[in-house]
Amino acid sequence: MEILRVQGGARLQGIVDVPGAKNSVLKLMAAALLAEGATTITNVPEIDDVEIMAELLRRLGAHVVHDLVARSVVVDVPAQLEHRADYDLVRKMRASICVLGPLLARCGAADVALPGGDDIGSRGLDMHIDGLRKLGAEVTNEHGYLIAASAGGLSGTEIWLEFPSVGATETIVMAAVTATGETIIDNAAREPEIIDICTMLVSMGARIDGIGSSTLTIHGVESMHPTTHATVGDRIVAGTWAVAAAMTQGSVEVRGVDPSHVSVALDKLRTAGAHVLTTADGFTVTMSERPLAVDVVTLPFPGFPTDLQPQFIAMNAISVGAALVTENLFEARFRFVQELARLGADVRTDGHHALVRGRPALSGAPVEATDIRAGAGLVLAGLVAEGTTDVYGVGHIDRGYAGFVEVLNGLGADVVRMDM
Ligand code: UD1
Repeated sequence: MEILRVQGGARLQGIVDVPGAKNSVLKLMAAALLAEGATTITNVPEIDDVEIMAELLRRLGAHVVHDLVARSVVVDVPAQLEHRADYDLVRKMRASICVLGPLLARCGAADVALPGGDDIGSRGLDMHIDGLRKLGAEVTNEHGYLIAASAGGLSGTEIWLEFPSVGATETIVMAAVTATGETIIDNAAREPEIIDICTMLVSMGARIDGIGSSTLTIHGVESMHPTTHATVGDRIVAGTWAVAAAMTQGSVEVRGVDPSHVSVALDKLRTAGAHVLTTADGFTVTMSERPLAVDVVTLPFPGFPTDLQPQFIAMNAISVGAALVTENLFEARFRFVQELARLGADVRTDGHHALVRGRPALSGAPVEATDIRAGAGLVLAGLVAEGTTDVYGVGHIDRGYAGFVEVLNGLGADVVRMDM
């Protein structure tokens, strides 16, 4: 079993380049299924989830080459695809569900195991299923699989999402690009990753209006063609390094991300006392004293991202003052608070609120990561804790952060990956 052994006390200094976004690249790889032939995706992060998705696409019949040096993935899609995504892979990664839309569009059928993935809440699929049914698919749940079929093809329609779900928006867009007629998605998600996938789909021949807004209009086309597309920079990884700089009273320049994709988090860091300078391709965060505690409310984009919530709780735990953190997306995300408490953090949760009272110092202890972002939050806390923090559950971190240890050590931290 691997752990990360973190020695507290370093002030992070230096420059870090963020790779393409995990939450985009997995969907881009699935979207490649929509066109026969070889689609190339660049700016691919070296994370475990990319390997899982590559394996899933191979099982569906695609030839997938992941070039670590070129940081690219080529997905070569045959004329005939398999349409069954098995539980052994899907259980490892919830994002596997994103093959549902493309398979239905390409094969007229999709059997996808109900996903596992992060243990951060119930994470329903009702909006995915309702959307596909509105497009004319029959969807049933049998023996742990979603079985979707559309013998007569899919037809454009109007779909109103009761919540701007990222996953449901992606599923519906990918199913609708080759449906007959026009599909309108109201209250669509507006995350940069949605813009990224829509941009790639357009470059494959799709016709989509309203990209970046909450109303997407998709004019169905007959077929799609392969493309080459660069993955958008990872705003959550960028935001994680921003918080790390502020917490450790350091100075870090982050490159490879559009700063407007992280603007709410950067504003919060300014409120906490950080000096933040943005450029066209990134930002620099500099902090010279203990941060001030900042309230946070998670919301769909352009609101504050839930995927940065644990990192901000970690920062608030060593800040001056107290802050209220409200989690509106994933109810189980506060589970990581129990682990943070092992480092001496003063956090009380009540439903979807957490009251964090800042303390001058934390003290190193063994802790367990429960999901990707909780893992990042615990390592950041370890960086400011006195002594040694052993973070278990490293596999979670490896799913979302490429070269996590190398980046931290490059910024002056003392983090060692070791077998226990
Ligand atoms: C994606 C991201 C995740 C991020 C989240 C919100 C990926 C791989 N993951 O997850 O990192 O935290 O967006 O920005 O891209 N819901 C339903 N029914 C549905 C769909 C969603 O009830 O059919 C609920 C979920 O339980 C959750 C909320 O809607 O409470 C948001 O989920 P959604 O936006 O779909 O997130 P994901 O796509 O799962």
